[in-house]
Amino acid sequence: MQNEKTISGFSKLSKRGKIKWVVENFFKDPEHVMKDLISYWHHDEDQQQILDGFSENTISNFPMPYGLAPNFVIDGKTYCVPMVIEESSVVAAASAAAKFWMSRGGFKTEILGTTKVGQVHFKWEGNTSKLYGLFPEIRKVLIENAKPLTVNMENRGGGITGVELIDLTDEEPHLFQIRAQFETVDSMGANFINSVLEQFASSLEQFFLDYPNLSDDERDVLIIMSILSNYTPDCLVRASVECKVEELGKFKGGIDAETFAEKFRTAITIANIDPYRATTHNKGIFNGIDAVVLATGNDFRAIESCGHTFAARDGQYRSLSHCEIKDGVFRFWLDIPLAIGTVGGLTKLHPIAKRSLELLGNPGAEELMRIIATVGLAQNFAAVRSLVTTGIQQGHMKMHLMNVLNHLQATEQEIKEAIVHFSDKVVSFSSVREFLQGLRVR
Ligand code: MEV
Repeated sequence: MQNEKTISGFSKLSKRGKIKWVVENFFKDPEHVMKDLISYWHHDEDQQQILDGFSENTISNFPMPYGLAPNFVIDGKTYCVPMVIEESSVVAAASAAAKFWMSRGGFKTEILGTTKVGQVHFKWEGNTSKLYGLFPEIRKVLIENAKPLTVNMENRGGGITGVELIDLTDEEPHLFQIRAQFETVDSMGANFINSVLEQFASSLEQFFLDYPNLSDDERDVLIIMSILSNYTPDCLVRASVECKVEELGKFKGGIDAETFAEKFRTAITIANIDPYRATTHNKGIFNGIDAVVLATGNDFRAIESCGHTFAARDGQYRSLSHCEIKDGVFRFWLDIPLAIGTVGGLTKLHPIAKRSLELLGNPGAEELMRIIATVGLAQNFAAVRSLVTTGIQQGHMKMHLMNVLNHLQATEQEIKEAIVHFSDKVVSFSSVREFLQGLRVR
């Protein structure tokens, strides 16, 4: 179907040409929209070229707030953490939780594994036990033939750490999988893993062509696809906090430490037993995790999909965080798989991601895993603390009020008066506008 909203050769148009076409065909006020889109171009052409290079058909940049959450004490080291997020209250909540735990021993972390995973899916019509019999030889050939691709990674301390055969013929006739494990050190390793897997696939085809005395069917391996898995349950980090219950202090609304600890623990249990709550609970964790993953130029889609699969690993979607109160000690922790990198990908190419890593002291991948998991835990602590004490709206309303006041260009004096006025009232755009109008006619 051809009409004015379709086009061929769009990618060949210049950037201005692309904008011209889109504004003329999809907007009511083309000139204004064109100006708007161009106003977000980077003033430095070289920088803009770098940004354009990350994707295709780019016409402008999409700005997102870049904020800082200071006072994160993680394993005794203090960090000021960069966060990219468009939701109000998230950075404030992370900062508040960081400060809370700073005076209670800080956050502790532990790397539980750094293994990444890849798969070659294939069909083979021979006998399953014959394939298992051949597999030690196949494994040797696959690893040997991949050497030119793995040698650099091996020099950096990584490489292929395992290759196994998985039989899926009960699920689908003749279906097998080679599942390989990798250590990719400071890189996320997606390109490395995918290249090795494609090499595995062609080595596998060649193996069956060359192997003596096979039937025609046995020579015919059908490669379906070769691709890394974003599910990396063994690339896992734990972040935790703990203190004596009484050291938790008093909470808003006069809630004492014991009551708080018990309500908090129950809230985590609810997220563990109820997928409806678990989804929102884990969303709160990813508010923090995604923000740091984005700020450091990592792949938030990979991190999200992996985290959610991990949360459902026993067949039910559950909380990623855990809480216990034992012998008068409150302990709260998060286990999360995080396959991230601090070299390769966007990490050093994106001008601000590079600054984020510098701000964090140019960490390696393991240190960044520790930082990201900690922010997820802090975010979760802040959210659940609000939920079991004041409720979430109080904090949100304060931020919403500030956003509306800024939008309506309130003066410092007007802001002060609005904060007092709305301390016990519901904030809405119209109520704030009316309040300001009232002040302005005084
Ligand atoms: C909002 O973005 C996140 C929360 O809903 C998380 C939670 O409920 O735990 C506050």
